[in-house]
Amino acid sequence: MQATSAAVNVRSMATRTLTLSLPDTDATQDLARRLAPVLAAGDCLLLTGPIGAGKTFLARAVIQARQAALGMAEDVPSPTYTLVQTYEAGGVEIWHADLYRLTDPAEVIELGLDEAFDTGISLIEWPDRLGDLAPPGALRLELSVTGDTARRLDITGDATWHARLAPMLATLDA
Ligand SMILES: Nc1ncnc2c1ncn2[C@@H]1O[C@H](COP(=O)(O)OP(=O)(O)O)[C@@H](O)[C@H]1O
Ligand SMILES: [Mg+2]
Repeated sequence: MQATSAAVNVRSMATRTLTLSLPDTDATQDLARRLAPVLAAGDCLLLTGPIGAGKTFLARAVIQARQAALGMAEDVPSPTYTLVQTYEAGGVEIWHADLYRLTDPAEVIELGLDEAFDTGISLIEWPDRLGDLAPPGALRLELSVTGDTARRLDITGDATWHARLAPMLATLDA
């Protein structure tokens, strides 16, 4: 009995990666539009990939899709210099961070990001700067440049994430 439930727990914590191909910016925008309504308070997306891969583009599209659904529209500047930009989106705060210039993970707490991980929707570029402070239940989105406008997106998350994303992913080829 004990062994069975332990095995189930291990399996439910296992992460899996799903790979999508995004041939152009429209495809990235489309994915963001489908991903945005799935997100809820306490969710964290870790956006990785080299400079110019499209991390900000994807985050911006998610934020604008959430706002559009609420009849709102706001500029979404890159948080390159401010490190963090926050957006009110219908009772939940979206935190968009670019941690490239972060030198000490302690700054994560100064910025209030640890609290945002619990209460808001966090979209984090350069999440390796978080060190141990990265939320364990985060969804990892890794962008790779495969062509002029083509990107590969590797989505890595636990079974809970995959279950939540499945309906959205099933509509992608439709
Ligand atoms: N399929 C695509 N998905 C996302 N961005 C793309 C794509 N194709 C071209 N781009 C361009 O690549 C650039 C990505 O820039 P940005 O999002 O600032 O990158 P990062 O934040 O990863 O450094 C943008 O100019 C965007 O228009
Ligand atoms: Mg960026």
